[in-house]
Amino acid sequence: MRTLLLALLIAAAPLQAQSLNVITADGTQSYERDQLMALAGGRRSMTVLEPHEGDERNYVGVPAGALLQSLFGDAWRDAGAVQFECADGYRALIEPSKLAEHRALLSWARGDGQPFSLVNRLQNDEAVELGPFYLVWDNLESPELREQGASDWPYQIVGIALVDLAERLPRVMPPPGADEAVLRGFEAFRTHCLTCHSINGQGGAKAPELNVPASVTEYLAEGWLRRWMLEPAKVRLNTPMPPLAPNLRKAQREALASDIEAYLKAMAQTKRLP
Ligand code: HEC
Repeated sequence: MRTLLLALLIAAAPLQAQSLNVITADGTQSYERDQLMALAGGRRSMTVLEPHEGDERNYVGVPAGALLQSLFGDAWRDAGAVQFECADGYRALIEPSKLAEHRALLSWARGDGQPFSLVNRLQNDEAVELGPFYLVWDNLESPELREQGASDWPYQIVGIALVDLAERLPRVMPPPGADEAVLRGFEAFRTHCLTCHSINGQGGAKAPELNVPASVTEYLAEGWLRRWMLEPAKVRLNTPMPPLAPNLRKAQREALASDIEAYLKAMAQTKRLP
């Protein structure tokens, strides 16, 4: 009896996990794959350079742009960000313009029928399940997308929402009157860090809070925060934290790291306990 129950549970689990929650002002609605295909005009496949493993892969799913258009109408193009919520606590905030300008696929399987999983070379070779949904980009013809590596490739996606950052994440916003470096740092932090980490209790839930009660800029000795962002594995053995934008040139990476540090220092002056 117990075995039968277990078998039933195992059989039911993947079915349940295949739906996508779409969060709007009116509430949350769940969509199954066939509904997503109907909304996005059918199923497509896409061959990409898989940034987590470094080889070519073919994925199957629906075009993200067409799906967003169908779900939200033109409103998605003017949103502050499209938020992809993931089962492991990761939250990607992606610029609508990037989704409008490049082809992305909301995928749910590999084209060759192999398991929908990978070994994340960027995060300590962690084996990860990609489902229910994984956002992949048509990066074979785009050096720009390849340079961005694995940023904006969320996996284990369970929900999509349009967000106004100032409304949804007010405690993460840089203080009024912040200088250029802080504003640039905020943009970079949003793309590269907020996906996993929170500031003042808001943001990703996959990694530790960085601002309250003590900011990392207060307890890490000068220079170590930048070093940590650029080469985490050279500071802490076997850390799952990925290096900042590893495909960019050294000077660009260092500029991003110092902007992010400027943002974090500004936030240390703007603490708000949740
Ligand atoms: C994919 C998720 C992920 C991303 C993206 C990420 N981190 Fe992390 N980070 C982690 C995890 C997990 C830890 C904790 C594990 C550890 O300390 O080895 C961590 C630890 C840290 C710590 C150490 C905190 C402490 O007190 O020990 C700092 C500082 C930090 N991250 C800053 C950043 C910054 C800045 C960025 C953006 C450039 C960033 N992280 C991007 C996952 C991430």
